[in-house]
Amino acid sequence: MKVNGTHHRSIQRSGAAVQVVDQRSLPHVFRMQTLSSVGEVADAIRDMTVRGAPLIGVAAAYGMALAMQVQADDGDVSRAASLLVSTRPTAINLRWAVEAIQRQLLRMPAPLRPAASWQLADELAESDVLTNQRIGAWGAGLLRQRWLELGQPARLEVLTHCNAGWLGCVDWGTALAAIYQAHDSGVPVHVWVDETRPRNQGALTCWELARHGVPATLVADNAGGLLMQQGRVHACMVGADRVTTQGDVCNKVGTYLKALAARAHGIPFYVALPLSTVDWTIQRGEEIDIEYRAADEVTHVSGRNAAGHIERVQLAPDGTLAENPAFDITPAACVSALVTELGVIEASERGLASLQQYRKAA
Ligand code: MRU
Repeated sequence: MKVNGTHHRSIQRSGAAVQVVDQRSLPHVFRMQTLSSVGEVADAIRDMTVRGAPLIGVAAAYGMALAMQVQADDGDVSRAASLLVSTRPTAINLRWAVEAIQRQLLRMPAPLRPAASWQLADELAESDVLTNQRIGAWGAGLLRQRWLELGQPARLEVLTHCNAGWLGCVDWGTALAAIYQAHDSGVPVHVWVDETRPRNQGALTCWELARHGVPATLVADNAGGLLMQQGRVHACMVGADRVTTQGDVCNKVGTYLKALAARAHGIPFYVALPLSTVDWTIQRGEEIDIEYRAADEVTHVSGRNAAGHIERVQLAPDGTLAENPAFDITPAACVSALVTELGVIEASERGLASLQQYRKAA
C-alpha cells in the first residue's frame, strides 16, 4: 500500500538481506529495518518489529532463507526451523510457513538449498498478496451487501480490533483489505478502531486507514459496547491468528468481548483470514496455546512526547502485578462468517469441511 505516494510492502527482499517496516516506531516514525540473519529475524518476530499472523509466517520463511545462506545441512534446516517456531506460539501461520519451507528443503540436496530457500520465501510473500486481494474482494462484497440491506446509510459503520491490515501481512491485509476494497468501490465506510491495549495496534490501523483515505475514529477498547447499544456499529470485521476445525477464532485479546456484544445486538461479526490461519489439527479453541507477554507491556506505555521524542512511561503503581494474555478465543457461535480467499464460509465444522480439497492439496 502507499505511504507518501510510494508503494511499500511490510517486508521485502533486498539483496542478501530482508527489509521490514519497523512497526515498533509506528505510527510516529516510518522506517525500514534490515534483517541479515536468522537470529535477527527471530528477534524481530519476538519483539514485534514485525507482527501480525501472515507477516510473521513470511518473515520466518525469509529467516529460513537467511539461515541457508550460512549452512544448509539437514541439521541446519532443523535448527533454524526450531528457532523460528519458538518465537511466538499462537499464530499458526508461523509454524505453517516454517514447516512448509522445511519440508521442501529437506527433499532436495543441500547445495541447492541456499538459492531454493530464497525462491520459496519470495513465492510465499507473493502468494500472501494475492490471497489478501481475494479475501478483500469477498469481504468487500459482504460489507456492500450489509450497506444495501440497511438502505444505503450515509456511513457504513464498521468496527475493527487490532491491526489486520497490510502491516500485519505483506500487503493489503485481511480485515482491512475488505474495508479498503469496499471503500474503493464506493461504499461509504467509516471505521471504529479499537485502541487494542496493551500494544496499541489500533494506532497502526488508524495510520494505515488514513494513508488510504478511509475515515476512521479511534476508540478506547471499552467503548465498543456503548457504540453497539447506540446503533452506531453496522458490522464488525477482524482478523485471526488461528482458527480451529469447528470455527473457533483466536485473535488479539479483546476480540471475544466485542463478538459477545455484537451477538447481543444482532450485529454481524466477520472474521477475515487466509487458509494458512486454519489449524487443521485441533477442533476446539481451548486447545490453542495462548501467548503471555511481559507484564510491563500492561504497566507501561510508550508514545510521542511534546518534544517529538518517543518516550516510555509507567502507568501503574510500583510493584503492581499484571498479567498479559495476548490473544483470546471467540467461539464459532459468535462468528457470523469466515471470509477466506476461497470464499465466505460458515464458522462451523461443516463450513471448514467445505475447504477439505484445499487441505489435501496443501
Ligand atoms: O500480537 P500481534 O500484533 O501479532 O497480533 C495480531 C493480530 O491479532 C491480528 O488481528 C491478526 O494477526 C490478523 S493480522 C492480518
